[in-house]
Amino acid sequence: MQVKKVQFSRQATTFYFDSAFGQLKKVVPQKTSVIVTDEHLAAAHPKLFKGWNTIVLKAGEEYKVQATVDSIIQQLIDLQADRTWTLVGVGGGVVTDMTGYVASIFLRGISFGFVPTTLLAMVDAAIGGKNGIDVGLYKNMVGTINQPQFLLYDVSLLKTLPESEWRNGFAEIIKHAAILDAPLFKELETAAAA
Ligand SMILES: NC(=O)c1ccc[n+]([C@@H]2O[C@H](COP(=O)([O-])OP(=O)(O)OC[C@H]3O[C@@H](n4cnc5c(N)ncnc54)[C@H](O)[C@@H]3O)[C@@H](O)[C@H]2O)c1
Repeated sequence: MQVKKVQFSRQATTFYFDSAFGQLKKVVPQKTSVIVTDEHLAAAHPKLFKGWNTIVLKAGEEYKVQATVDSIIQQLIDLQADRTWTLVGVGGGVVTDMTGYVASIFLRGISFGFVPTTLLAMVDAAIGGKNGIDVGLYKNMVGTINQPQFLLYDVSLLKTLPESEWRNGFAEIIKHAAILDAPLFKELETAAAA
């Protein structure tokens, strides 16, 4: 595992690269943490969340809305979560955007971290501290800027990722490389040709 701490103006995020989901127990206390995930992840990795408080959301952008936020907050109240608890978003960008948002407003803000499970969330959505939800036709209309305490990368979770989601993630990587990183762009071209 490779650990890297990145300092932002007021907050720091610890990145656990090359990690495994099993390491999460060493990063956050299991009893006072709540995993937020979606139904596809829960179905694809049924044993992953054993022993964890878990909130399972319906999957998809159409659920990145206030009604889902309300339901997560109600489940946190039912679990008697307090300010010392941590929310862990395990999923794609929809899950991480909503988890970061709920953690930023629940009890005026509690700790949170992410285990991104799509390529897009690993390289983009889970990074940078932008959290939020959609309102009607407007994407990401409401939200916060608040950095996660940690990001834990377990690339083995990508084994169940649908083909279309691989393409979404690679589109973002290629875009980034084309704009800012010529060596990476070359590497992508070489790897694609192989
Ligand atoms: N906060 C930011 O800076 C930022 C940046 C880019 C995108 N986003 C947001 O990210 C969202 C898109 O994220 P996304 O592309 O990850 O989509 P997503 O979260 O909808 O995930 C895509 C699909 O893959 C499924 N899935 C996720 N991981 C899986 C796995 N390991 N195995 C099997 N299925 C899996 C999900 O259930 C879903 O059906 C959008 O809401 C977008 O606004 C945010």
